[in-house]
Amino acid sequence: MNTPIKPPTKGARRIPEPFRIKMVEAIRQTDESERHVALEAAGWNPFLLRSADVYIDLMTDSGTGAMSDSQWGALMRGDEAYAGSRSFFRLAEAVEQIFGYPHIIPTHQGRGAEQILFPELVARCAGKQPVFLSNYHFDTTKAHVEIAGAQAINVLTPEALDTTTPYDWKGNFDLVALEATIARVGAANVAAVIATITCNSVGGQPVSLANLRATAEIARKHRIPVVIDAARFAENAWFIQQREPAWAGVPIAAIVREMFECADVFTMSAKKDALVNIGGLCCFKDNVDLFRAVQVRCVPQEGFVTYGGLAGRDMEALATGLHEGMDAVWLEYRIGQVAYLGERLRAGGVPIQYPTGGHAVFVDARKLVPHIPPEQFPGHALACEMYLEGGIRAVEIGSLMLGRNPATGAQESSEFELMRLTIPRRVYTNDHMDYIADTLLAVSARAAEIRGMEFTYEPPVLRHFMARMKRR
Ligand code: F0G
Repeated sequence: MNTPIKPPTKGARRIPEPFRIKMVEAIRQTDESERHVALEAAGWNPFLLRSADVYIDLMTDSGTGAMSDSQWGALMRGDEAYAGSRSFFRLAEAVEQIFGYPHIIPTHQGRGAEQILFPELVARCAGKQPVFLSNYHFDTTKAHVEIAGAQAINVLTPEALDTTTPYDWKGNFDLVALEATIARVGAANVAAVIATITCNSVGGQPVSLANLRATAEIARKHRIPVVIDAARFAENAWFIQQREPAWAGVPIAAIVREMFECADVFTMSAKKDALVNIGGLCCFKDNVDLFRAVQVRCVPQEGFVTYGGLAGRDMEALATGLHEGMDAVWLEYRIGQVAYLGERLRAGGVPIQYPTGGHAVFVDARKLVPHIPPEQFPGHALACEMYLEGGIRAVEIGSLMLGRNPATGAQESSEFELMRLTIPRRVYTNDHMDYIADTLLAVSARAAEIRGMEFTYEPPVLRHFMARMKRR
């Protein structure tokens, strides 16, 4: 069932920024020849550009948000004690109040939580060939699953791969595939089920509460632990409130509690919905044994268990940001801003993952530049054009990011070729959205002339970060 897509406006107007700007950071527009020189020097890889050469930076929404006056105020209260910091206890109190999880470990960011948790889940899994099942593993999540000696399998709802047909819950688990995969690999081999909310890689798409509950029920039936990858938990809760009839009008805080009832553990990159520039969490509802084992891993890898790689002041900003990130007025504006950009692009005929998700607009490069084959990286070619056209830095999510099969060396075949325009939180105004749309429409008007890319240097692993390329 699909809810009619609501225009991202209130009445005839766009939702204005629900904040005033107290401090500004200048950004510099460059001319096209400067951008050409900068991109050439960066080996046609936006990751290698200097941010000073970027006008609008849409590479990620991770750690790029603006903190509030309350968060900056909270920083001053940071207790920098090595052990037992007051700031740790303030963070633990916020986590318990919001999520109902009493056992918390701070980490330096999301992948810090993954690296201390996953080996323990593998160690507790009775089978010999451990796997993790997820709606979709984020790339660092998949990497940490593999480093822990397990295999990452995605069981995503098939509607997510059809970008043009709207569907409310493109982040959902395919429950039939989940059951079938558990039966195929054997429940004893499943180290955990990871629910990524929202589901980043397919467009910041939400998971419904009904689907999350059904997923948890299947996992529990087989005694498989459920982990929530909670980076964009508040955006997911907002979609549930808007689209799932049973939850219409229910406060975001109550929906968040319900979502986290479905899991045993959560990992969080706090650099997204929790509105901080650095930080993460690994939290446990009632499995104290697992919590203690992960604490033991935390000490040598992240730091002592009451700071986990963060300064006391970072934990203060995070405790405040967790609450701010769930504000319904903020979320309506935030998701509305992304939807507004999406609508402008759609009106100009640009194919995007539709409806837009929480944190980004994902442009379907397969459809916009169909003459560029996957091995010439259409999403990456588009990202280079966005930079040349308007100084905008975007990122490819597709074949370039996916890489080669480590055993055969062959390019893995990607389910999608996307360019992600990721919107940092509380950083760019609605006018910036118009500039981004105008730039992409100009690129789209000359789509047929855009050329594919080839490597001049291909790193052996995680190649998209350091690769150097040229136009074909
Ligand atoms: N899980 C999800 C769903 C993510 O989107 C990310 C990061 C992580 C885990 C890892 O967290 O970066 O704090 O270590 N996503 C960023 C992005 C990098 O650009 O989408 P981290």
